[in-house]
Amino acid sequence: MPTTERKILVTSALPYANGPLHLGHLLETIQTDIWVRFQKLQGHNCIYVCADDTHGTAIMLNAEKQGLTPEQLIAQIRESHEEDFAGFLIGFDNYHSTHSDENREISADLYQRVDAAGFIARRSISQAYDPEKELFLADRYIKGTCPKCKAEDQYGDNCEVCGSTYSPTDLINPVSVISGATPIEKESEHFFFKLPEFEDFLKDWTTSGTLQKEVANKLSEWLDSGLQEWDISRDAPYFGFEIPGAPGKYFYVWLDAPVGYMASFKNLCDKEASLSFDDYWLKESTDKTELYHFIGKDIINFHALFWPALLDCAGYRTPSSVFAHGFLTINGQKMSKSRGIFVNARTYLNHLNPEYLRYYFAAKLSNSIDDIDLNLDDFVQKVNSDLVGKVVNIASRCAKFINKAGSVLSANVIDEPLWQQFVDKNSSIAELYEQREFAKAMREIMALADLANEYIAEQEPWVLAKQQGKEQQVQDVCSLGINLFRVLMIYLKPVLPTLAEQTETFLNDQLDWPATISPLTNHEINKFKPLLQRVDKDKVNAMREEEQQNLAAQQNQSQAKPTGPLADDPIADEIVYDDFAKVDLRVAKIISAGHVEGADKLLQLTLALDEEENQTRNVFAGIKSAYAPEDLVGRLTVMVANLAPRKMKFGMSEGMVLAAGPGGKDIWLLSPDDGAKPGMRIK
Ligand code: MSP
Ligand code: ZN
Repeated sequence: MPTTERKILVTSALPYANGPLHLGHLLETIQTDIWVRFQKLQGHNCIYVCADDTHGTAIMLNAEKQGLTPEQLIAQIRESHEEDFAGFLIGFDNYHSTHSDENREISADLYQRVDAAGFIARRSISQAYDPEKELFLADRYIKGTCPKCKAEDQYGDNCEVCGSTYSPTDLINPVSVISGATPIEKESEHFFFKLPEFEDFLKDWTTSGTLQKEVANKLSEWLDSGLQEWDISRDAPYFGFEIPGAPGKYFYVWLDAPVGYMASFKNLCDKEASLSFDDYWLKESTDKTELYHFIGKDIINFHALFWPALLDCAGYRTPSSVFAHGFLTINGQKMSKSRGIFVNARTYLNHLNPEYLRYYFAAKLSNSIDDIDLNLDDFVQKVNSDLVGKVVNIASRCAKFINKAGSVLSANVIDEPLWQQFVDKNSSIAELYEQREFAKAMREIMALADLANEYIAEQEPWVLAKQQGKEQQVQDVCSLGINLFRVLMIYLKPVLPTLAEQTETFLNDQLDWPATISPLTNHEINKFKPLLQRVDKDKVNAMREEEQQNLAAQQNQSQAKPTGPLADDPIADEIVYDDFAKVDLRVAKIISAGHVEGADKLLQLTLALDEEENQTRNVFAGIKSAYAPEDLVGRLTVMVANLAPRKMKFGMSEGMVLAAGPGGKDIWLLSPDDGAKPGMRIK
């Protein structure tokens, strides 16, 4: 256990001010917050800062699209980010913005130091330019036909159809996504940070010890393949900071973004006299203070290459370590709005308790960069079984007997060895938190909870309570139960701050995490109130439903519709009357039907659209599981008559018949009756 107080500065990556937070962002801030709360609970001086990342072309264009100034947009988004983070109990010591005076000053100063030291190169480069919008175009703002496979509508740097990578100048018929204009090539001067000169420095830094193995591996991969100079400037128009002495040139967003860590901390120092900026950022501060950045695995290069090199070059200290985590998947799939695999932070909070998710993430997180899956069934099951069924259950089973007999815990611990088992885990569980092995810590804690429940089940205080002369034993057993619950809640406090607070009220005691935990004896507690409700599966479903509706509303204009494990056969995107009017539905008569060789689902139908059977259509329909050909001949059905013919493996299909049902034997061909005649239009 620590003998001296550590001084630690911690950051989470700054979320883009370009949209609301989703549960992927929360995986990171929850991981960071648990670690920070743990450090604070251990008595360390740990400071957690973050900010919104506000600059760049995307935010500028997004604001324009919404008829807002960038400043208005980032103010709105910041408010929503701060509300959502608070909703998940993220305990920042400061939350700031990269569009701030502090950041402008520190970024400019850092750049000037790097420039003065001779590490900025200037040269002209040629880039795609939108002549209509008068804007240089990053690769993702150019689309065109893939030069390899000729697929249309592919982005400027890679083809999603054939997977080849290329440069935007190779695209056939390139267009600017912003204006639709054909991009031209245009020269302009750019500023570069001379990263290759820091190769030796970075080699030292990688091997200096505290980096995760995966981060160190990435770094040496990059170092081995040779470093490139880093383009840190962008031309106007750009939402960001103008480069000192270079009118019309702006810092690339990734230059001032990490400086935002310093800026947020500076902003805090200006509010709190006891804090000194220099103690945490000057070169000599590495002896006194620690600095950690929690990030996702997608931004390791910015934090483990550019950032330490820039800091070192400008005379600042480097991070003690960079802690990277994997990506959040939902029900085993990558998060994707267009496929409906997505949950916004706010949508979650509209339906569910934040501590459920904090616990679930804790139960899955390790210190590796493996991805983490939020499986919604497992989520319900795990939270209910661990938190409600194991932990809180101990308190609710024991509290009533204590409350009934005066609410004072016994003077002695009745089962010393059991108590000892709980407190003996103190330092090993603390070490697991320290190492960010939260899943392992949760397993240890739940194993203890199992022991406590077994003990209570064996002692059966509810049976003892009915026996004469066993009053003291009931109190002793239940007092130990309450004390074991208290130890568990101390160990869980970094993960479950609200539950810990409610426990403090119930126990009339502050839950600290000392090196030696002593039991509460002869101690008056308060009346027990239910602490945590079970996760209601219906609420999880309601959350999914709300998210599907949000996504559908957002995607109304686009062609993609939500499918996948969250979709559960949702109602398709809304269409307008004109869309409907385009579909020509007709009554058709099935004049022949037959099997299709080699097809196990299809029947081949010949449909007539008039009584004389002059107008016929050949249609392949996937209804073989429900109908035999001989049952169909002579029947009327409904078809889409104006569907463009489609070439199938077995021949041309010239329409589609309408049927209902989940599949298999349960398919019902729509059959009009009441005098319908082939060719009649259905409206
Ligand atoms: N603005 C930059 C970071 C600048 S730090 C100086 C950025 N923003 S972000 O909003 O895209 O991502 C913020 C953090 O959330 C990143 O660490 C990113 O890895 C993390 N995540 C974003 N989506 C995620 C998941 N689906 N899963 C886990 N973390 C993810 O990058
Ligand atoms: Zn292609």
